[in-house]
Amino acid sequence: MNGTGSSARIETLFDVSGLSVVVTGGASGIGLGFARAMAENGAQVTLFDIDRDALDAACTALGPDAVGVEVDATDAAALDRGFAQVAEARGVDVVFANAGISGGPGFVTPDGERLGSRAFEALDPALLDRVLSVNIGATFRTMQAAIPHLKARGGGRIIVTSSISATHTELLVGAPYVASKGGVGMLVKQAARELARYGILVNAISPGPVITNIGGGRLQDDASRAPFERAAPLGRIARPQDLYGAALFLASPASSHVTGAEIIIDGGACLGPDRPV
Ligand SMILES: NC(=O)c1ccc[n+]([C@@H]2O[C@H](COP(=O)([O-])OP(=O)(O)OC[C@H]3O[C@@H](n4cnc5c(N)ncnc54)[C@H](O)[C@@H]3O)[C@@H](O)[C@H]2O)c1
Repeated sequence: MNGTGSSARIETLFDVSGLSVVVTGGASGIGLGFARAMAENGAQVTLFDIDRDALDAACTALGPDAVGVEVDATDAAALDRGFAQVAEARGVDVVFANAGISGGPGFVTPDGERLGSRAFEALDPALLDRVLSVNIGATFRTMQAAIPHLKARGGGRIIVTSSISATHTELLVGAPYVASKGGVGMLVKQAARELARYGILVNAISPGPVITNIGGGRLQDDASRAPFERAAPLGRIARPQDLYGAALFLASPASSHVTGAEIIIDGGACLGPDRPV
């Protein structure tokens, strides 16, 4: 891992060139954005994803150094194999534990009407199991599989895609997702505390809504996006490129004394709307 030295120059502070970076859920959306931010700055990127076609398209877009491996991040054995393969070829310096899924909409419609099918008591417990198993389980297992390789390297970075749902309740996002990201938020802090001794820094990026393919790509639709845009003082929701800066900060020497932190990128949504509702 590059050290900070005493240089304050951007090209040294934010240098990720030559780092071996793994991104789970890297074939789409936010993960693909993280991969792009790394690859365009000279890192060697490996994408883990369950979607073979999307992996191939992503690697073509990222360039010849990018590698795509079909890995289900809920599957500990597949992760172990994937990380062993990367470690053998390139070592492992930075891991984005990013794979995650939606748990469906919240308890009201964008117009504020109560949705009976999404009432708390109507939610299928199997949905909770599924969302926890991907959002918490895959994050946990990705960290477990990565840690021995980062320790062997003498340190590294784990950057977890959390959400503002880790700390804020939601109207338009379902309870299983909110519960899952609450758990992810504490996993990051707990791991950061334990792993600091090994030079492994663990931090979270917590976006508000981002236009990706999650939840069937519903945020690509103007009407679905509108209430989220009204809720953000900056007046729009994020695109994956709005997260590039945080990714570069947390992967580079610029954040060498930062661990257990959470960077919120939400257009001010957590502050509350900028007009009475
Ligand atoms: N889009 C948002 O509004 C938003 C907001 C906050 C946080 N997040 C988080 O960002 C992360 C990425 O979501 P996104 O919005 O980019 O979604 P996306 O659907 O565009 O991309 C997710 C990718 O993860 C892959 N994936 C899903 N399950 C997997 C598994 N078990 N193993 C490996 N890969 C798997 C998918 O195939 C897909 O390529 C998730 O953790 C999500 O909770 C998203």
